[in-house]
Amino acid sequence: MVNLKPPIINTFHFILIFVLILGSGIQHSLQNEFISNYSNSLLSHVPRLLSPKTTVLDLSLNNITGIQIEDFKFLPKLRVLRLSHNRIQYLNISVFKFNKDLEFLDLSHNNLWNISCYLLKNLIHLDLSFNEFESLPICEEFKNLTQLDFLGLSAKRIQKSDLLPVSHLNLSNILLDLERFYGEKDKLESLPVLDTKKLQIIFPPNRALFMQLNISVNNLRSLEITNINLNNDKCSFFTDFLSKVIHNSKSLNLTLCHIEDTWKCFVEILQFLWHKPVEYLYIYNLTLVEEISYEPFTYDETLLKELKIELLTLKVYLFTQTNIYDIFSDMNIKMLTISGTRMVHMPCPSKPSPFHYLNFANNLFPDSIFPDCENLSLLQTLILQKNKLKHLSKIADMTEKMKSLKHLDLSQNSISYDEEKGNCNWPESLLVLNLSSNELTDSVFRCLPPSVTVLDLYRNKIKGIPKNISNLETLQELNIAFNFLVDLPGCSTFSSLSVLIIKHNSVSHPSAHFFNSCQNIKSLQAEDNPFLCTCELREFSKNMATLSSRVVSGWPHSYKCAFPDDYKGTLLKDFHMSPLSCNIVLLIITIVLVVLVLVIVTAFFCIYFDLPWYLRMIFQWTQTRHRARNIPLEELEKTVQFHAFISYSELDSPWVKQELLPNLKQEEIRICLHERNFVPGKSIVENIINCIEKSHKSIFVLSPNFIQSEWCHYELYFAHHKLFHECSDNLILILLEPIPQYNIPPKYHKLKALMARRTYLEWPKEKSKQALFWANIRAAFNMKLNLVEEANNIEMI
Ligand SMILES: *[C@@H]1O[C@H](CO)[C@@H](O)[C@H](O)[C@H]1NC(C)=O
Repeated sequence: MVNLKPPIINTFHFILIFVLILGSGIQHSLQNEFISNYSNSLLSHVPRLLSPKTTVLDLSLNNITGIQIEDFKFLPKLRVLRLSHNRIQYLNISVFKFNKDLEFLDLSHNNLWNISCYLLKNLIHLDLSFNEFESLPICEEFKNLTQLDFLGLSAKRIQKSDLLPVSHLNLSNILLDLERFYGEKDKLESLPVLDTKKLQIIFPPNRALFMQLNISVNNLRSLEITNINLNNDKCSFFTDFLSKVIHNSKSLNLTLCHIEDTWKCFVEILQFLWHKPVEYLYIYNLTLVEEISYEPFTYDETLLKELKIELLTLKVYLFTQTNIYDIFSDMNIKMLTISGTRMVHMPCPSKPSPFHYLNFANNLFPDSIFPDCENLSLLQTLILQKNKLKHLSKIADMTEKMKSLKHLDLSQNSISYDEEKGNCNWPESLLVLNLSSNELTDSVFRCLPPSVTVLDLYRNKIKGIPKNISNLETLQELNIAFNFLVDLPGCSTFSSLSVLIIKHNSVSHPSAHFFNSCQNIKSLQAEDNPFLCTCELREFSKNMATLSSRVVSGWPHSYKCAFPDDYKGTLLKDFHMSPLSCNIVLLIITIVLVVLVLVIVTAFFCIYFDLPWYLRMIFQWTQTRHRARNIPLEELEKTVQFHAFISYSELDSPWVKQELLPNLKQEEIRICLHERNFVPGKSIVENIINCIEKSHKSIFVLSPNFIQSEWCHYELYFAHHKLFHECSDNLILILLEPIPQYNIPPKYHKLKALMARRTYLEWPKEKSKQALFWANIRAAFNMKLNLVEEANNIEMI
């Protein structure tokens, strides 16, 4: 058995529910409340050691079988106690005698069959419904519950006297659970007149208990009856019952839940209520049985404003459908809801209808409802959510004559628009159009009412917004989420757009056009798009960040890069690229500039510091060091008497005497000088050869003068010869002054070849460079060499 929860909850109820929803932890405090939440915790008894500060204690949905005074003794501040959905069988109200502040006590849905009385003066809400009480659990003490607002009761039998103690209380809500009632048959029980704004009665299913009850209420504003089982015979008993309950009320909300009824009786009840002070009639879960035939209906004047029928089951299979439809379509009320039925049609009212609001959600209506209907000219809201609608142009035609239509909900159908199948003529009044969850494609933009301000195209198949569509100048809100758009739309066609929802599309690299053209945007939702994080996206992120989280929902946490893989998952906010890598022109300029600077710096070093000279000298130095290391010492030591032989032109002798010799002497380098070490009696050539043979190295001081001297050339020839002979590097060429190649006479081809092949040491004029020059000379000599002494023709220089 399904028990429908009261749909209308009083304010106190609501605040408490709110407070409890907020309480997520076991214990926490909220302003002045200290909430302990043990709901659904498999408890078999009330937990001890609760904080004495507890004001709200939720023990609902457990297995508690009994409560004792000790359970609550130390909770002096307890105001709210929820014990519903447990297994408590017996209640002695005095267990709460230390809880003087207790206001809210919910013991519904337990196994209570007996209570002992005690007065809890401050009770506002007392719920004992859905229990196993034989008779109504009402104590004499209840008559002093002056604060009481809500009283929930249950019983299997009722006697008039039971309700007496509470009959004078001025309550807001009485819940009378008579679901397990088995009172004596055919005995009419008259209850005392009650005073409450709202009365909820739950009858047993499958039994017409109202025939045995006579209830009358003062000040009733809302009546809710659950489980009504009628057939044609019992119908008048039910209307009698109703007329007694409501006879005093001036305007009433009536809710009837779970009715099983014949069509004839149902029309009878409607007809009865049509002339009663009922303003809102809500029928939930109606089952029609037996047969459906034509029933006349007199509309006349009625106080009824709204009829709402939700969930209709037909257990009749053969009938003329118009018997049902006609009654509804001609109703003279403002608001009608018929939803969750399997109705397939609704005819146009036969005369101008007062309908303002029609809700036919969740039925089986096709495009052909209200064909060419002129009698709905007052209709403002039409809800056709979740039906079988297919063609947008046909629906537009249907609404064309509804001159007041403002809000049209066509969501959750299978609507598409084929341009071939005709134009769309919408009423000019249409402001809100809900086309969400349909089959619409890009073409829908050619079939929209020009006056629309709110357009919902959520979850369709739109890939793009065509360029040449007519302007939707009044459109303020566009929901186009869950489609396949690849870019944000600009506002050139929607000049008033202020809310755009475009989440979950295929927008990868949104253009900046949107931000330029949409100046009025107040809210933007663009999360869940596969953003491609490249240079172009920086502009977009920048614009989003400027709009701030007040405008952009979910910014920055819901906006992430989807591509490229390197950036996947990075927040757009944190995605940066250097301006350089994003700007080709800037990049080229920078490279050119860097190269230019390098060239200038190099040129400067070359010109100002003679960098190439240094480089050459250093290179030679390392080369010489390397070579010197490779020559085996012992071999040399056998033959060599001098470190070096110097060959130079007489004209260069001032430099040799003043610069070269003193420096070599400093390094203790032994020199064979021809004018000094020559052996008399030998020919000049013999002497030269001798000198070269006895020296480890030969130094040649090259200059234009050198070339002029024949002797020098001989010396060079011999030295070079030795070089090839012994395969050792024993030539040191010093270029004292530059010798232009053309100056070298052709017969000195040896010299030419040497100069071209062998690197020579240039004598620098600048003092600063000379140190390096001498270092190079030094490096050319292997100073560990032990020279052979030959006393008679050697002299230390
Ligand atoms: C459109 O209808 C859907 C339900 O089908 C609803 O969730 C949505 O809020 C409606 N849109 C507007 C703008 O009312």
